[in-house]
Amino acid sequence: MKVSVCRKAHFNAAHRLYNPKWSFEKNQDVFGKCNNPSYHGHNYNLEVWVKGEIDKETGYVIDIKILKDLIKSEVEDRFDHKNLNEDTIEFKNLIPTAENMVVVIWNLIKNKLPKHLDLKVVLYETERNVVEFDGK
Ligand code: NI
Repeated sequence: MKVSVCRKAHFNAAHRLYNPKWSFEKNQDVFGKCNNPSYHGHNYNLEVWVKGEIDKETGYVIDIKILKDLIKSEVEDRFDHKNLNEDTIEFKNLIPTAENMVVVIWNLIKNKLPKHLDLKVVLYETERNVVEFDGK
């Protein structure tokens, strides 16, 4: 029997979507306003879902404090109030779309999570635009 637990988090970041291999015109066609050279910001909302057996001794799947600290060290400290293109090594050579961001965030958290736990990350770029990744 496996149970899922979720910790929600929030961060702000700026980005620009463009492919350096393309002309400005092609970037404009594909990315539109998101190609703005002066960048633009989003208020990102994050859901981190961890699934596993309930530990018989603690009654927990994972101590939510561990999850909270992991999100702070791996996601918030790294990306909050940053320009993703300019200030982070993760997106120096990777277009910071929500899709790429959710995979990066999943890997950062997965690397620090006890091996027996399953992980799913849901990232809201806006209230209406949502992506998720579970490692598959
Ligand atoms: Ni954007």
